[in-house]
Amino acid sequence: MTEDNDVELEARLENRERFEPPQSFVAQANLVDDTIYDEFERNWPECWKQAADLLDWENEYETVLDDSDPPFYEWFTGGSLNASANCLDRHLDDRGDEVAIEWVGEPTDEDDRAYTYEALHREVNEFAAALREQGVKEDDVVTLYMPMVPELPIAMLACARIGAPHSVVFAGFSADALATRMNSADSEHLVTCDGYYRRGDPLQHKEKADEGLSGVDHDVESVVVVDRLGDEYDHPMENGELDYADLVAEQEGAEVEPVSRDAEDMLFLMYTSGTTGQPKGVKHTTAGYLSYAAWTTQSVLDVKPEDTYWCSADIGWITGHSYIVYGPLALGTTSVMYEGTPDYPDRDRLWEIVEEYAVDQLYTAPTAIRAFMKWGSRYPERHDLSSLRLLGTVGEPINPRAWKWYYKHIGQEECPIVDTWWQTETGGMMVTTLPGIGTMKPGSAGPPLPGIDIRVVDTRGEEVEPGKAGYLTVDKPWPGMLRTLYNNDERFVAEYWAEYSDTESDDPDDWVYFPEDGAKLDEDGYITVLGRVDDVLNVSGHRLGTMEIESAIVGVEGVAESAVVGGHHDIKGEAVYAYVITEEDSEGDEDLHDRIVEGVEDAIGPIARPEEIVFTPELPKTRSGKIMRRLLEDIANDEELGDTSTLRNPEVVEDIAQTVGDA
Ligand code: WTA
Repeated sequence: MTEDNDVELEARLENRERFEPPQSFVAQANLVDDTIYDEFERNWPECWKQAADLLDWENEYETVLDDSDPPFYEWFTGGSLNASANCLDRHLDDRGDEVAIEWVGEPTDEDDRAYTYEALHREVNEFAAALREQGVKEDDVVTLYMPMVPELPIAMLACARIGAPHSVVFAGFSADALATRMNSADSEHLVTCDGYYRRGDPLQHKEKADEGLSGVDHDVESVVVVDRLGDEYDHPMENGELDYADLVAEQEGAEVEPVSRDAEDMLFLMYTSGTTGQPKGVKHTTAGYLSYAAWTTQSVLDVKPEDTYWCSADIGWITGHSYIVYGPLALGTTSVMYEGTPDYPDRDRLWEIVEEYAVDQLYTAPTAIRAFMKWGSRYPERHDLSSLRLLGTVGEPINPRAWKWYYKHIGQEECPIVDTWWQTETGGMMVTTLPGIGTMKPGSAGPPLPGIDIRVVDTRGEEVEPGKAGYLTVDKPWPGMLRTLYNNDERFVAEYWAEYSDTESDDPDDWVYFPEDGAKLDEDGYITVLGRVDDVLNVSGHRLGTMEIESAIVGVEGVAESAVVGGHHDIKGEAVYAYVITEEDSEGDEDLHDRIVEGVEDAIGPIARPEEIVFTPELPKTRSGKIMRRLLEDIANDEELGDTSTLRNPEVVEDIAQTVGDA
């Protein structure tokens, strides 16, 4: 930050540790009464009726929480509903002509597409009818390998309408990643896209999808392709794929009765990285997830139906599921969806969109905020951002400096910032201030939400003192929680519960959820999240398993062994550092370097591309043969051990291993 006004920011805001919600915000906030914390504690779990009440039910539920078989909790049991009806049909009378999805394509010379609730409802019905005709039945998993085109949320809602769970695979993931996920979910149906725009150029997607399909180990019944690029890209359609627009046109005017789903029926699967090489299929259900997404959108993002709200995440990740699609649409608001990058055609694209659509709330990620900061305040200053009322962040810790920059240059010191901690597995936000109630402390996400019971503990599960680092645990279930890992209850228990629970017990008090994050508490009960404590990296707010990257690298010819760690990166937060031992007759040269990069991109996608590849004759290991990742991290971060080139020297590596092994 070199600009003049940032010097002023430094002076005035630097030492400020607390920020009160602006009066103008409080005056209109959805929640302003801090007794909600006590009330939720006293009435737990009945307090969560408040979330269920945001939905329309076909059959009322009988029990708020069934905790008879922990950790397989069930919420709102006995109830039935349909998520697509909750996001669309019930808004038609009052808000049919209002915009549901305000889609902004990357090219600036084409028309953006606004879908009113009525238009969205129509196309969702037509596509739901088309999916049925392709043989999609209730409970069939439909894979959606799509970029940020409106047909993605349409396909999600069409699946929800016919009770077919969707599994969205981030478009930036590779063909292999698609195949792995389709295989794991036994998914026989795919909806994909010919391509999309990136920084002004058309980018093909269809050939990647085809390659992924060739790796699927079972029959694929149907493949539907959205034509985004038109004449710009003549995509292959040689294997009986169907064109999305044709299908929808054939079904013109079709109406599909929303399928009545049990509260606990699966709404979707979302794959996420874990400690092993195999991604985990996180299962979310219809009522618990949807009610929790809606409740947090209303309480934390302060969304009202008349707002224009924008979450800049990609729908390929959980943030986009909960806070572009399900939460906002359940509340009947206008949700903005942007196809492209923040720096195309210039670095003010986001601010141009905020101004053009008079966006009320902006929910983005620290990695983006760090980039905006680096680009400088002259970009937001070109635009009128006065429509903004609230700002949010998610994905990784935000440092106080970036927080204050966001507060001043984007929020003009008039918007509260919600720093929301949560995970794919939690379905929705868990830790954050309530914007009309809580004092904000930059760098700290805030207290747990009402009804959420969080502690910071040591390895034995004892609470640690304020100020000391420990592990985050969630001690009570919540409606948005994952129910299991797809087809793998055992791994579900092992990954999230075994650490701090008495797994023999059927008393829910003996069960504790472990999110695998480190954290510390302050005297006021505010939580500062320190980051992952498992072997998962957080690159630009995206979870990547080190094991997944390592196995991709080891798959490259000439590589014997590899260790991947996270190194500090100014914008991405963490970057991938790969230490590689070559096979005897192979050399760590440029060719191998390039093949490793390619191997990682093929197995996972460009987001996992190593920032740095260090060829080394050995890796520091403990006597029991475990790679000393911490040491490698220090090397990657230039801490203590200094220059990474020292690792090229086997004697030094041996010395390190010896010293650490002895410790
Ligand atoms: C990290 C994204 C600090 C954390 C919604 C978590 C955060 C992982 C924050 C989940 C935050 C997310 N402050 N860390 N506000 N939000 N994280 O599953 O390590 O992609 O476990 O879900 O991101 O990433 P996931």
